[in-house]
Amino acid sequence: MKRTLLTLFTLLLLAPAKADEGMWLPSLIAHRIGDMRAKGFRLTADDIYSINKASMKDAVVLFGGGCTGELISAEGLLLTNHHCGYDAIQSHSSVEHDYLTHGFWARAREEELPNKGLNVKFLVRMEEVTDRMAAGETAEEIVRQAEAEGRGYKARVEQMYYGNQQFLFVYQQFDDVRLVAAPPSSIGKFGGDTDNWIWPRHTGDFSVFRVYAGPDNQPAAYSPDNIPYRPRRHFAVSTKGVEEGDFTMIYGFPGNTQQYILSDVVKYIAETSDPMKIAIRTRRLGIIAEAQASDPALRICYAAKHATIANAWKKWQGEVLGIDRLGTYAKKLETERRFAEATGDGEVLQELKKEFARALPYYYTRELLAETLLTLAYGYTAEEKADPIFAEREAAERALYRQAFEEYAARNTLLPTIAEVAAGIEQAGSPAAYADRIFELAVADPKAEELTALKKGIAALHTRIVDELGTKSLRNFNSARMNELYARYVEGLRRWAAAEKREGAMFPDANLTLRVAYGKVAGYEYADGEYHKPLTTLDGIIAKDNPEIYDYDIPQSLRDLHATKDYGRWGVEIDGRRTVPVCFLATNHTTGGNSGSPILNARGELVGINFDRTWRSTMSDIEFDPTICRNIAVDIRYVLMVIDRIGGAGYLLDEMTLR
Ligand code: ARG
Ligand code: ASP
Repeated sequence: MKRTLLTLFTLLLLAPAKADEGMWLPSLIAHRIGDMRAKGFRLTADDIYSINKASMKDAVVLFGGGCTGELISAEGLLLTNHHCGYDAIQSHSSVEHDYLTHGFWARAREEELPNKGLNVKFLVRMEEVTDRMAAGETAEEIVRQAEAEGRGYKARVEQMYYGNQQFLFVYQQFDDVRLVAAPPSSIGKFGGDTDNWIWPRHTGDFSVFRVYAGPDNQPAAYSPDNIPYRPRRHFAVSTKGVEEGDFTMIYGFPGNTQQYILSDVVKYIAETSDPMKIAIRTRRLGIIAEAQASDPALRICYAAKHATIANAWKKWQGEVLGIDRLGTYAKKLETERRFAEATGDGEVLQELKKEFARALPYYYTRELLAETLLTLAYGYTAEEKADPIFAEREAAERALYRQAFEEYAARNTLLPTIAEVAAGIEQAGSPAAYADRIFELAVADPKAEELTALKKGIAALHTRIVDELGTKSLRNFNSARMNELYARYVEGLRRWAAAEKREGAMFPDANLTLRVAYGKVAGYEYADGEYHKPLTTLDGIIAKDNPEIYDYDIPQSLRDLHATKDYGRWGVEIDGRRTVPVCFLATNHTTGGNSGSPILNARGELVGINFDRTWRSTMSDIEFDPTICRNIAVDIRYVLMVIDRIGGAGYLLDEMTLR
């Protein structure tokens, strides 16, 4: 049974994919290589992934917990996004050394800054273990065995297609990763939250790190005696640039997609979940923005919080628009109808829908908790309270407590409320009055009995929900039972597609495992008659430049450079003017986690660093629309120019392989 299944799955991979949709497993890329080569790729499947020789996978890392990075020198030099290195850059910043604002350029190896808790993981190999597990081996045994194979080895068994296939991923983890360079935020975060998810884009979203190893080139805890890691492979950097239509490949760690969800879940996302989260966050962002506008110190204090809340808030808005525009719900319904007809297994869908209805109140309440009561800290450290800014911060914090309790009380209509909260509101007279009381306790006495009881009450509800759903994961709408049913449904979908020899191979949902996506540099029609070109330039930065607006206030050095046009080798002619390319668009299928991923040309040379998608793309986690879904990359030539001309760190280019 399993055997035939596996063969079927493999056959499916041979079918040509619809346009550029897809996030493919590198070890199975041989099935796609024909299509890739037809679209312009010049290398082989072995160049992408091999366990016998150095391949491109040896130059890609999972950077920290949720970004991608790439090796660009034989001495461990690594590129990722500025927003991925942000915490590290921030942790080294102080009023005297404000690297976030002014940038950081290590002038020598000794100046490279170690980062506690930051690691990178290289994929040693991946292999399917479905058969081993079917034969009785447990994931724990498989992992234990793999981790014993080498120093710093970390292994995981990951499910594909809701558990229809199991893959072992063996990584080698390096824990000594040092900050080498970062542009000023006015370049690395240019456009800030205003331009986030937006094209045209002009963000120099990159930072530079270096991986260090012990003298034997193996992983080692931080030590001044460590030496730059010599990777099996690093990417050559193309200085020739890209043009519309050029082949692009992206190699990285996409975090989460949900292509195979039930129509009911699509409806829930578009009509209930996203709108609820957007509404709650709109109010939260309003409170924070007001505080930020009142005092520059508060602007800084809430900067990271605001950015994090705003990022998903904006994404969800695009997602709802996209789902509506594409009619994803209606399409799913139709697919389900045809699935039942073609396979005769309408029962699995009925069961799924039944379980969905049962799980809904629990899932919804968990989402609501996560956006309200679980956002509060219920205490402040002595350090926070000693900060002179705290007096001013209090008003905003109180407002955030009120908002959280009000929203929770108003929206928690599906499950019995938390006893402590219900009693507290009853006694205080209103959610706001109760929130005030809780806030005052959080300031005065975080150990107060009432606070402890409240936290216990919240935890108890959370535990109950987790028990009812049978899963700790909030990643997708799921429950233990739904996962079982999804496995059967997705297996059916795959058999059905194979039986009908339909175009459009299936690929497993992203789950923070290494994937390949390929496509091309391309603009798109943003709106009727409004075409968006795929390339932006320094002139666009200058046009947006405004010293009065924080997000658009560029460093003087960039203005000077533009005035003199002294771009050196980084200058190009576009439409008869001399300028520098900044960002570009491509059709690669990406999602969160792909930030920092290398964008490679047909020869496997680095042409850009991925960092975002367009506003109209953000439903691609659920439905990918090849006509408008675009990922956004920073052009590697802009990165090199900033390193060279703004950072004065041209010596870093000496260790790269420039082509
Ligand atoms: N939207 C991108 C992503 O999802 C970039 C986020 C960081 N940039 C920002 N302005 N907040 O991660
Ligand atoms: N900005 C995202 C990231 O940080 C990428 C995306 O969602 O397109 O991974």
